[in-house]
Amino acid sequence: MAKLVNLFVHVLLTCCVLVLASGSSGNLPILSFDEGYSHLFGENNLMIHRDGKSVHISLDERTGAGFVSQDLYLHGFFSASIKLPADYTAGVVVAFYMSNGDIYEKNHDELDFEFLGNIRGKDWRIQTNIYGNGSTSVGREERYGLWFDPSEDFHQYSILWTENQITFYVDNVPIREIKRTKAMGGDFPSKPMSLYSTIWDGSDWATNGGKYRVNYKYAPYVAEFSELVLHGCTVDPIEQSSTKCDNAQSFKSIPTGITSEQRTKMEGFRKKHMQYSYCYDKIRYKAPPSECVIDPQEAERLRGFDPVTFGGSRRRHGKRHHRSRSSRAEATSI
Ligand SMILES: *[C@@H]1O[C@H](CO)[C@@H](O)[C@H](O)[C@H]1NC(C)=O
Repeated sequence: MAKLVNLFVHVLLTCCVLVLASGSSGNLPILSFDEGYSHLFGENNLMIHRDGKSVHISLDERTGAGFVSQDLYLHGFFSASIKLPADYTAGVVVAFYMSNGDIYEKNHDELDFEFLGNIRGKDWRIQTNIYGNGSTSVGREERYGLWFDPSEDFHQYSILWTENQITFYVDNVPIREIKRTKAMGGDFPSKPMSLYSTIWDGSDWATNGGKYRVNYKYAPYVAEFSELVLHGCTVDPIEQSSTKCDNAQSFKSIPTGITSEQRTKMEGFRKKHMQYSYCYDKIRYKAPPSECVIDPQEAERLRGFDPVTFGGSRRRHGKRHHRSRSSRAEATSI
């Protein structure tokens, strides 16, 4: 893989007229698994369904499982319909994300959807996060509840990544928008990434900061994926062809803007369902990272939800358990 790094010096893009109905995978091509993806880990725990397009991955006492896109992408629209495991899923993590951590060990980029399992009767929560150029010391997590039970049916989760903006969608509702600011510098993901889907044991942190661990009595935990969309600019270090994305012309034509109707939905979602935002975490950040725009009403709502984290009370300070991998927020509330 290290060889790829040198080849990126001559990043050459095959590309892509990106025609996107904001956040909708509408008519975007759905590749068969074999066309677009490779099995990443978890030998017998990945199963391709008969249609060749849907797949499930599972976690049992031996292993989790995952798959990865065959290509690397610089920008695009990435989407999957996912049905999460039901009932007792504490400690289980399903992740749908982009990363180049295998190529850039010290300065990788990442864009995450992470689904955090829960004890029976409590809902799954989802977390989004970004890292850019190895910015793992600054976690930019947000966590939300959902307006449906994600284990009951398939729902669409999408990531739109352009040069200046990242949008996370759930069922075509934008739930988070990250605009590149100058002050963010390299913290905004900007190198080609692969798309990953994984299921793994996150016992140490996923549910109530590790209080509830994976219980293998209920295994296997099965996550189903369908309608997998990879619609971006592939970066092919071997073929070295074409440059349409290079001049950004095609990106200018992407309707990346969120319509006013969608914006209203996004604001409604965030008011109702956001349970954690790094921008308001006074324990982690004395001053919020530069891109944060603090809304006093939001601050007050979150303070009501968790006075320790969002109120900056030091009562529990020092007792908090820190995960070894980066400063990723603990998933504390259940
Ligand atoms: C990314 O990280 C590398 C290595 O740490 C550094 O040389 C480079 O300037 C950084 N790029 C940006 C855009 O910050």
